Amino acid sequence: MKQDSLLKDIDHILYDEKAIASAVKRLGEEITRDYKGKYPVMVCILKGASVFFTDLIRAVDLPVTIDFMAISSYGSSTQTSGVVRILKDLDHSVTGKDLIIVEDIIDSGLTLSYIKSTLIQREIASIKIATLLDKPVRRETDLEVDYKGFTVPNEFVVGYGLDYDEKYRNLSSIGVLKREIYETN
Ligand code: IMP
Ligand code: MG
Repeated sequence: MKQDSLLKDIDHILYDEKAIASAVKRLGEEITRDYKGKYPVMVCILKGASVFFTDLIRAVDLPVTIDFMAISSYGSSTQTSGVVRILKDLDHSVTGKDLIIVEDIIDSGLTLSYIKSTLIQREIASIKIATLLDKPVRRETDLEVDYKGFTVPNEFVVGYGLDYDEKYRNLSSIGVLKREIYETN
């Protein structure tokens, strides 16, 4: 589907639907292979990872369970401060479980470092991170990324769950937002 009302604000597309689908398929296969015989809990970090998450869980051939966590990070609309608050915690106990945290993008890494350190305190069996996008040049903390879709350039991207000011999440591709959109605000 052509989404002209959203595409007009996009400078250029980085990954179209086809490229995203093949990355998701590859990640699903990696997880399926690595967790053979296990029952991991796949945790979606709302809201950015929601679109990726619903595709990724269906690319995994294992009896997984799912849960959701919502986080708010203080900072400007295009940058995180690293101060994170849990808005919605997991519904189920994760004691003894193998967790796979699913995130849309890792930028400074501060958000995920916080989430990881919080979850590790719950006597889990293991924790791994799956992210669709990684912006490693912006990393401010040591964070191991176990499953990665794409490494992105240092630009602000939207679509496929990723937002600017809560918009563009429903764009089916991922693109670089025109600078004028966030610089005039
Ligand atoms: P971090 O704590 O700096 O790693 O920030 C990660 C969070 O910031 C992600 O979960 C996104 O919600 C948001 N974010 C970082 N970079 C972008 C971007 O380029 N587009 C949209 N959201 C982003
Ligand atoms: Mg996010």
